[in-house]
Amino acid sequence: MSAEADPTAGEFYGLKKLEHSLPASWYYDPAQYALELERVWYRNWVYLGRADTIAEPGSYRTFTVGTQPVLVVRDEAGALRAFFNTCRHRGAMLCPEPAGRLPARTITCPYHAWSYRLNGELARIPSAGRPHHIDTDGTRLYTIPLKDWKGFLYANLGDSGKGLSENFNANTETVAHWPLEDLVVGHRLSKRIQCNWKIFWENYNECLHCPNVHPGLSSLVPIYRRGIMEERDDPNWRAHAAKAEPAYKGGLRSDAATWSIDGRSLGHEFPGLTAEERRLGYHYMTSMPSHYLVAHVDHVRSSRILPLGPEETELSIEWLFPHATLADKNVDIRKAWEFSAQVMAEDGAVCELNQRGLRSQRHAHGLLMPEEYDVFRLHQWLRAELARS
Ligand code: FES
Ligand SMILES: [Fe+2]
Repeated sequence: MSAEADPTAGEFYGLKKLEHSLPASWYYDPAQYALELERVWYRNWVYLGRADTIAEPGSYRTFTVGTQPVLVVRDEAGALRAFFNTCRHRGAMLCPEPAGRLPARTITCPYHAWSYRLNGELARIPSAGRPHHIDTDGTRLYTIPLKDWKGFLYANLGDSGKGLSENFNANTETVAHWPLEDLVVGHRLSKRIQCNWKIFWENYNECLHCPNVHPGLSSLVPIYRRGIMEERDDPNWRAHAAKAEPAYKGGLRSDAATWSIDGRSLGHEFPGLTAEERRLGYHYMTSMPSHYLVAHVDHVRSSRILPLGPEETELSIEWLFPHATLADKNVDIRKAWEFSAQVMAEDGAVCELNQRGLRSQRHAHGLLMPEEYDVFRLHQWLRAELARS
């Protein structure tokens, strides 16, 4: 792409001309939603949950991605396997609970009791009348490719052949110094937001709303108070280039170490971080369309986004800590999760406002300001995904 054609090219990160937002109907039209499920959600790697939450052989969790029922089970050998949560007999859901332990290390359908081994093979049909030849492939559970990236489980429902790394927008090197495999979920929060899934990601991708919507966060991260995320989001950034303060260079205010109620670290900080990683204090890694991480010196926040309908999205947040933090009775992890839960509540409220206003019959599309260059990139990514046949 030439510098002229790319509105984000150059040293100033912002958009160089006014861009339109997506057509307003894309945020509520059921046909558009169905298309996005097919082309985006069923072709990309979608984050499900942490591997250590399905720890024992025979334990399982179930998920719904769009309309698709998914079952992840740990087999006798300790490997995790994903299947559609669908019986090969007449299609009943095999495991209706969100999580559990299979009683006899077989998956038994609650309808007519066909049972399957944990590798997906049909084990038994209990009815007396049965045909002599049943082909094994025709009765094996429908397999879904599953990958474990540093303890985060991703499934590719359409078996699209895409590599997992294609899903990571930001380079995974961003969080290379964090021991992600070893972290443990210390707190969870799940909420339904009445908005299209793209509204959530648009809000994630800009900080123009930060001064209005996030007073606490804007106090902790001074550059956010300016409605920008990075130094070069300001067209006059060169005039401030010599200034070292966090309001210009990003990072936490000088007396803070992490995202917590008082800005103080919980302790048990990750030992492998560089001085610059510690100074900045927050590091994002995104896996579109379902997952992002924010890594701090003492904990990591993992957020999963799943679409529930054209105008409803589920946000599930896991706060991950080192074992030592969770074992330490003197540490109150609430200080960390309450802070970001407040930020997420503020974001959820404006996402819902955004959704409600979009219904105006006069509103064909929105307008993007220069600072919304990452929203523009999100739209470009979406259009490319939709164009893929
Ligand atoms: S639908 Fe599962 S055994 Fe009949
Ligand atoms: Fe926000």
